[in-house]
Amino acid sequence: VSSCMENKKPLVIGHRGAMGHETENTIASIEKAMEMGVDMLEIDVFKIKSGEIVVFHDDTVERLTDGEGAIESYTLAELKALTLEGGHKIPTLQEVLDVMGGRTQLNIELKGRNTATDVNTMMEAAVKTGKWKSDDFIISSFEWDELRAMRALNTKVRIAILTEGDPLGGLVIGKDLNAEAINPSFKRLTAKNTQKIKEAGFKIFPWTVNEPQDILQMKRLGVDGIITNYPERIE
Ligand code: G3P
Ligand code: MG
Repeated sequence: VSSCMENKKPLVIGHRGAMGHETENTIASIEKAMEMGVDMLEIDVFKIKSGEIVVFHDDTVERLTDGEGAIESYTLAELKALTLEGGHKIPTLQEVLDVMGGRTQLNIELKGRNTATDVNTMMEAAVKTGKWKSDDFIISSFEWDELRAMRALNTKVRIAILTEGDPLGGLVIGKDLNAEAINPSFKRLTAKNTQKIKEAGFKIFPWTVNEPQDILQMKRLGVDGIITNYPERIE
């Protein structure tokens, strides 16, 4: 039984696209992840001042761009004037949906507040194009109130509960929201809590697992997917 568990291949989930290879959360990173054949890719989103949903990780722009200040305080025109490493631009969620065209599953991590309504509307519109299926999307967040808002809008959408501390802390809200998965920090996963999460009926997609020995450990625990900067390392 244990060798069987060890051989199970988890889903490969590209982190911020494939950020080990291309500037995180850019169209280039997303295209790279798809080229590499990931099963799913993960991006982070905020809602900005002019109303669009943009794909970006930090709440301020300093680390990743030549600008300064809070991402949410920008208009789209202002954000598009900023440049990321490698000359890339910050994409909108709509641009990402158009480029992906439903070819790979998408984990949208809600970083900012007040994102649920727009993201839900955009997912529904994407499904109407015929390129995406509802189940191609899974919504996650550390901001559990955003997940509550998403569930209130959409009774069917796949939801994953992000946790940073004890992964078992996500079980109650997970049940409450009829979530599919707990997405814990891989550093907090043990044989014991992994078992408890599984018994509670949730999948487990740990983040962010890059080192070969950590990948091996996650496979031994029998997780369902691995969020990684280096999709080629999951075999
Ligand atoms: O969604 C998994 C992972 O991306 C969570 O952490 O900071 O990389 O968004 P962070
Ligand atoms: Mg993220």
